Order: sequence, then C-alpha cells, then structure tokens
Amino acid sequence: MSPITKESFVIQGLAGKKLRGTVKINGAKNAALKAMAAAVLFDGPVTLNNIPDTNDVGVMSDVLIKLGAKVEKKSPNTLTIDSTFISKTDIDSELAQNMRASVVLTGPLLVRYKKVSFPSPGGCVIGTRPIDMFIEGYKKMGATIDPNEEMVYSISAKNGVSGADVFFNIQTVGGTETLMLAAVLGKGKTILRNCAMEPEIVNVAEWLNTAGAKIKGAGTTTIEIEGTGGKLLNSKISYTAIPDRIEAGSFLILGATCAEELMIEDCRPDHMESVINLLKDSGATITTTGNSITVKAAANPKPFNIRTHEYPGFPTDIQAPMVTYLTQAHGESMVFETIFEGRFKYVEDLSKMGATITIMNPREILIKGPTALAELPEKDELRAHDIRAGFAIVMAALLGKGTFTVHNIHLVDRGYERLEEKLTKLGASIKRTQT
Ligand code: EPZ
Repeated sequence: MSPITKESFVIQGLAGKKLRGTVKINGAKNAALKAMAAAVLFDGPVTLNNIPDTNDVGVMSDVLIKLGAKVEKKSPNTLTIDSTFISKTDIDSELAQNMRASVVLTGPLLVRYKKVSFPSPGGCVIGTRPIDMFIEGYKKMGATIDPNEEMVYSISAKNGVSGADVFFNIQTVGGTETLMLAAVLGKGKTILRNCAMEPEIVNVAEWLNTAGAKIKGAGTTTIEIEGTGGKLLNSKISYTAIPDRIEAGSFLILGATCAEELMIEDCRPDHMESVINLLKDSGATITTTGNSITVKAAANPKPFNIRTHEYPGFPTDIQAPMVTYLTQAHGESMVFETIFEGRFKYVEDLSKMGATITIMNPREILIKGPTALAELPEKDELRAHDIRAGFAIVMAALLGKGTFTVHNIHLVDRGYERLEEKLTKLGASIKRTQT
C-alpha cells in the first residue's frame, strides 16, 4: 500500500499561460472507503472496482489486514477483500487516528462479531469530529459501551444488534453509513431519520441491496433497513465506486480559473449541480453530458457568496479550492463554513501569497479579488493542511507568479491519485520531490 512519506510539490506558476486537455476522474474515495468497511458483511471474498489508488485506501486496507482480513490488489483500482478470517475486532489505534473513515468499520464489526473496540477518533485539522451520534445509535440498537479507558471505546452487543429508531441531531455522513451497515445484518427493522443524502451512501446501499440487504430510502433523510438476522451478504456481487464528485469539482474549479478548455471525463455532473451553477453564474463556460464536463475560464470572473451545506448543497470539501478561485474574482465574496469549525487553516498560506482574505470568525471569511499571487520569501513555506486545502494551495501556486514549494503533500495523496501526473498532462509544471 502507498506509504506516507514527507514529500513536496515544486510548482512553476503558469504566469498567465492556460491549461488545456482532458482529465479522467477516479472512483469516489468517500464511497470506496465505506464499501471496504461493508466487505465485512459478506460471506467470502468480494471484489471492489474503480477504487482510487490513494493513501486512505492503503490505510483502510492495512486496518482490515490487521484484523485478519485478506486484502488483495488485483490492479491499481481493483481490490478483493475476504473477511472470513477476521480474528480480532480491535481497530488499530495509530491507523484509526490517521483516518476518520475507519470508524465506519465499527458498524459491520459490531453486528457480525458482537463486539468492537476503537480509539476515540482524534479531531483533525478541520475540527473536533466527535462520534456522539454513533454511540447514541449503538445504545439504541442494544449495544453497551464499556468504560472508556485510555480513550478507547469498547462496544459489545451480546444479544446482537437489534432494530431501532434513530434520529440524527445533525446530518452525519459517517453516522448514517455506519449505523446503516450495522442494521443490515441486525435483527428486525431499523429506521434512521435526518440522514445524510450523499450519493456515496446511495452507491453503497444499492450494492448491498443487490447482495441481499434490504435498505430503503438511501439518498433521502429517512432510511429503513430490514435486518437479515445475521445472514451474510452474497460475495459474488461485486462493487463499483461512483466517480469522485470532489475530485471532479476540484478540477472544475481549477479549469474555471485558468483553462483554455478542460474536459473532465468519467464524472457525474448530476452530483455537482451547486458547484456547476455557481461557476456558470460567475462567468465560466460549462457544458455537460451524462458523464463529462467541459469548462473554459471566464475572462473576468464575478464574485459570489458560498454557504457550505449538506448534500445536495455546496460541499464543504471543495470550499478551500473555491476560495482560491474567489481570490481571482473581481469583487467581494463571503464564505460561511457551516459543517466544520476549523476549515480555514489554509487561508494563512493564501494570504502569504498575496490574497486579501479577512477571517471574520472561525466559520466566516471575506475575500477581496482579484489579487496577484506571488512566490514567498525563501524562509516561508506553503503546506497542505488537509486533503482539500492541499489542492487549494496547489491551485494557488499554479495561478501565481514564480516558483512554489508545497510541503506535506502526503495529505494531498490521501484524496487525489497522482495529482502531479494529471496536472502535467494539462500543461502545468509540477514535480514531486523529497522534503
Ligand atoms: C464525511 O466525513 C467525509 N469523509 C468528509 O470528507 C466530509 O467533509 C464530511 O463527510 C461532510 O460532508 C468521509 O466520508 C471519509 P459528518 P464525516 O459526520 O462522516 C458532526 C474528505 O476530505 N458530527 O457528516 O466524518 C461533525 O463534527 C473528508 O474527504 C457530530 O457532531 O462527517 C461535523 O461537524 C473531510 N457528531 C458534522 O457533524 C457525530 O457523531 C458533519 O460530519 C458525527 C458528526
């Protein structure tokens, strides 16, 4: 699996040159990771297709392998996972601390093996990211939470996971997916209300239904699951991840900033309406088919306000790349981050490059554009703070004048497959170096 190394990107600013060409979008990270967790619900080796070859997939594979599962990479984007030989249900602390998605595994492990332990997932750079709603849901499903020694949650369900009626006080993607997976093999009917409606949830639920699960309402705020009572799912039914709407959105924003013409293939424009509409209104030329988008940058992009929102609203995951876009818009834009309380760490880096951004409060910033983005004095460094902020800084470097070094790009590798190769094909000058 791809190791985490300390590497950087060295990027030459385009200095007015335009990108052009075609980029193919990978499978959705935030669907693939949940499908990997759901493999624990199956009666043998199950094949997962269109899986992105990224660090997070590598970490999830390592978590499963440490539990005793067999994980094989048949090709860079195809995995088989056989959970038959799982012998442990304590999720590796160090790996779990590095990747929030590992908490989704607790659902399948609890319902199949009646117990699971995992570290309290540390907050990460974008916020505290508690799991109170997971815990409340497990209690309603008949589980008990053992005293939380050394920040480890030990959960057991001696009589199995039973049906429950769970209302999420906040729409939670991970909470919706995790309790949905726990209910699939449970006893009786579970109703989940105020669910997240992300397409990645629908993608996994549809696969599980073809393999014997009984899930109704995925993609709406109410999901009903009729548990199989312990009967495992049919591993002959393989999974294929939907295109990554966040990767596609990232490239769309990049193209709307500096492409003569960029074709984005293997994507789902119908999962990206809020981003497409905002960029069209701002002046980009965008045409779409069922699985592709063509974008041409606007000469004088207009500013606009953003309020991040649960799907199908504007995704918090492309807030950072869009802020980089707005540094080039002609006027003032406000961004209100409603989902996470700490998702503006990258603003400091953009400001060092010359952007005019005022942090009004931890959830709101004001951007004034357009501003030239220039290389930093020698001593200053640019870094990726999280997956998506990393893309935003890479994009800013491309828009800038001079040479830029972006550190900690292992974080970018968590969510973008070989980003430098894709950008080079579009005409960018970007090299990966050891730090
Ligand atoms: C998923 O995280 C994604 N990760 C995130 O993408 C994405 O930003 C997020 O959904 C929102 O769309 C994966 O799918 C692996 P939430 P998740 O539970 O499930 C609060 C990326 O870059 N909350 O929907 O962890 C939470 O703190 C990542 O790919 C509770 O308070 O997000 C947040 O404020 C970054 N208690 C809000 O809900 C809980 O028990 C939404 O979080 C659970 C969540």
